[in-house]
Amino acid sequence: MSSDFPAYAPSEEHELLRQTIRELAETKIAPHAAEVDENARFPQEALDALVANDLHAVHIPEAYGGNGADALATVIVIEEVARACASSSLIPAVNKLGTVPVLLSGGEELKKKYLAPVARGEAMFSYALSEAEAGSDAAGMKTRAVRDGDHWVLNGAKMWITNAGVSEYYTVMAVTDPGKGARGISAFVVEKSDPGVSFGPKERKLGIKGSPTRQVILEDVRIPADRIIGAEGTGFKTALATLDHTRITIAAQALGIAQGALDYAIGYVKERKQFGKPIGDFQGVQFMIADMAMRLEGARQLTYHAAIKSERAFHGETVPDLTFVSSACKCLASDVAMDVTTDAVQLLGGYGYTQDFPVERMMRDAKICQIYEGTNQIQRVVMARQILK
Ligand code: CAA
Repeated sequence: MSSDFPAYAPSEEHELLRQTIRELAETKIAPHAAEVDENARFPQEALDALVANDLHAVHIPEAYGGNGADALATVIVIEEVARACASSSLIPAVNKLGTVPVLLSGGEELKKKYLAPVARGEAMFSYALSEAEAGSDAAGMKTRAVRDGDHWVLNGAKMWITNAGVSEYYTVMAVTDPGKGARGISAFVVEKSDPGVSFGPKERKLGIKGSPTRQVILEDVRIPADRIIGAEGTGFKTALATLDHTRITIAAQALGIAQGALDYAIGYVKERKQFGKPIGDFQGVQFMIADMAMRLEGARQLTYHAAIKSERAFHGETVPDLTFVSSACKCLASDVAMDVTTDAVQLLGGYGYTQDFPVERMMRDAKICQIYEGTNQIQRVVMARQILK
C-alpha cells in the first residue's frame, strides 16, 4: 500500500500546527511550569488550554470523534508542549499511550465507547503494564484476571502509572493463563470508577513532578467480559506493539525538553557578559552551542522519520523496521536531551544550578525519558534483537 506521507519533512500544515501549539504553550502553559514543578501539582491550566484548543489527544481518528492527526503532528504537539513544560506534555503523550492498545487491537464497540470521551476531552487514558517486580521484564507481571461468567475479575497492583488518579480509563495488562508466559497475558480497559480500583500515594520524583505517578491497585475488580482488548492471550503483544508507536512520543518529549533548554541557553549566552563581552563570543561556548544544536537536530530527524513510519504502519502498511526506529529515536533523543539540558545548566553556571532559571528543571525532567517506556538499556536489547534476528 502506498502512502501520501512525505519521506521525512513536515508539511506546511505541520508547521502551522507547530506555530499554533507553540503560541499556546508559551502563553498558557509555560507561565505555570515552574510553580507546577515546585508544588508537584497537576497542570490543570495546561489540560484546560489543550482541551479548549482540541490538542489534548490529536491522534484519535475522526471516526471516533477525534481530529485524526497523523503521528508526526502528534509528535509536534508533544514536542512543543514539552518545550514549555514536560509534565504537561504527558497529557497528549499518555492519552496516546493509553488508547493505542484499543486502537490497535480493540473491537469496534470498545473503540466507540472509550475513544470518544477522550477525543472530547472528558476523560484521559493511562497505560498500566509495569509492576513492582516487573519493570524491564514486563512479562513477569503477577496481576491476575480470572474469568467468571460474563465478567473478568482483576487482582493485583500496577506500578509507575503515569497520570494515575487523574485518568478516567486504564489499559491494564494482566495474566489470564499462568504458565504460558507472555502468551498468557491479556489486556483490559479498567475504569477509575470500577469498584475495587484505588491508587497508591503519589511517587516523590526527581522530575515531571506535575504528572502524578501512582500505583493502580485492583482488588476484586469485576468488569464486563467485553472490556477485554483483543483476544485472550494477545495482551502482551498488544502492549509491545503499542510501544512501537509510542516510544516515538517519548522521543518527542525529549526533543521538546532539549529545545527548551537550548533556546534558553542561547538567549543567555548572548546577554551574559564576562571579560567585557557576551560569553557567546567565546569559541568554547560557541562549540558547546553548536554541538547541542547539531545533536538535537539529528535526533529530531530520526524521530520524524520514525513518526512517518508509525503512521504508515497505522494505515496497514508493513513496516519491518518500525520496532528498530521507534527504540532508536527514543534512545537517541533521550540521551541527547540529557546531554543538552546538562550543558544548558553548565552554560548558565551558578545561575543554571538554581530554581530561579528553568534549565535545572529541564535537566531533571529530561532524565525520565531515558527510563520510561523501556530503559535505554532495554531499547538497545530491542534494537539488537531486530538487527540480529
Ligand atoms: N510487537 C508485537 N509483538 C511483539 C513485539 C512487538 N514489537 N516484540 C515482541 N513481540 C512478541 C514476540 O513475538 C513474542 O510473541 P511469540 O511468543 O508469540 O513469538 C512475545 O511478544 C514476547 O516477546 P519476547 O519473547 O521478545 O519478550 P521478552 O519477555 O523476552 O522481552 C522486552 C520483551 C522487549 C524486554 C519487553 O519486556 C520490554 O520492552 N520491556 C520493557 C518494558 C517497557 O517498555 N515498559 C514500559 C512501561 S510503560 C511506561 O513507562 C509509560 C509511561 O510511564 C509514560
